[in-house]
Amino acid sequence: MTTIATDARLIDLPTYRAEHKTSPAFGNGTRLVLGTSGLGGVWGEINLQESEEAILYALERGASAFDTAPSYADAESVLGRALRQWNGDHPFLSTKVGRLRAETAHDFKLDYSSEGIRRSLENSLNTLGVDHVDLLFLHEPQLVNEADIPGILELMQSFIEEGTVGRLGIGGNLTDAFRPFMGKGRFEVVSGFLKMNACNLDVFTGDVAFFKAHDLAYYNASILHFGLLGRRLEDYSRNYERESDWLKRRDLDVARAIKELAEGENMDLSVLAQRYAFGIAEADRIVAGARTPAQIERTLKDWEKGPLPRPLFDSVTDLISNFYKK
Ligand SMILES: NC(=O)c1ccc[n+]([C@@H]2O[C@H](COP(=O)([O-])OP(=O)(O)OC[C@H]3O[C@@H](n4cnc5c(N)ncnc54)[C@H](OP(=O)(O)O)[C@@H]3O)[C@@H](O)[C@H]2O)c1
Repeated sequence: MTTIATDARLIDLPTYRAEHKTSPAFGNGTRLVLGTSGLGGVWGEINLQESEEAILYALERGASAFDTAPSYADAESVLGRALRQWNGDHPFLSTKVGRLRAETAHDFKLDYSSEGIRRSLENSLNTLGVDHVDLLFLHEPQLVNEADIPGILELMQSFIEEGTVGRLGIGGNLTDAFRPFMGKGRFEVVSGFLKMNACNLDVFTGDVAFFKAHDLAYYNASILHFGLLGRRLEDYSRNYERESDWLKRRDLDVARAIKELAEGENMDLSVLAQRYAFGIAEADRIVAGARTPAQIERTLKDWEKGPLPRPLFDSVTDLISNFYKK
């Protein structure tokens, strides 16, 4: 399950970054990563052919980094099929180990055994049709037994030596148990989620300071807060109890206030939220979660427009941070 952060006060505020496209932490490659969980079907029914076409559409328009996982239903096979048809530059790929295939985002099957992790990576490479991935995340760090972490890290480091993996990260929010294992040559990337977006800045209650002190790179995922900052606001508000294991009341309140602000600016909520996230300098990469070809098109347009203008970015930050003072 998602680790829900405490309601601590913000100790930092997001820094604005006007030039948003490249990531020094990733060799000045793209800062935009297309996440594939929605395209794989974990958020609802999809058409596999459409998902494959959407990935090719994105590649043709310059998308050059993708994030996937065995647990994202059909995501790895759809991405693999698209990559086999792609003749352009090979994109940067990340996948994950530890969580097995699932049909929905809330379905958890885990295997952190050495054989399970090795088998999972081999399956991912076969499915994607590649001989290595650039980044391998240990999925759901909050569900790993603390005593198993050193052995898992050693195993994953052996993949780097074998040449099947470029670097390592944790696929989920940082937990205390992982802190001693973070750093260069160990887990050096955190793929955090639900903690750095237009309704939640929890990552600024302490984690960002840790990332800076340990030279960690941050993949900022779920920038639309699992769709709350899109068309799901009313549904999640009405059915709060159903979602309460990962959704906080404060997130809902902030999202409503941000929606009003977006309306005042004549902007769609999701556009404002994505462009806000693009402007946050503390994200080394941003993982966008478009689920349909139309959403990919929209996200790529937002990416071209870039971060919100500075005054609007600051208004969004002020509005969110006020909720952390209450
Ligand atoms: N543990 C981890 O490492 C971890 C955790 C979470 C996410 N991630 C990565 O981050 C990626 C994205 O996260 P996510 O899918 O969880 O959450 P998200 O991006 O916050 O939300 C995805 C939802 O946002 C809506 N959406 C996306 N693009 C849109 C657009 N352009 N316009 C309007 N609505 C749009 C869609 O909602 P509707 O379905 O309502 O249309 C979509 O299902 C994942 O694919 C994964 O690669 C990693």
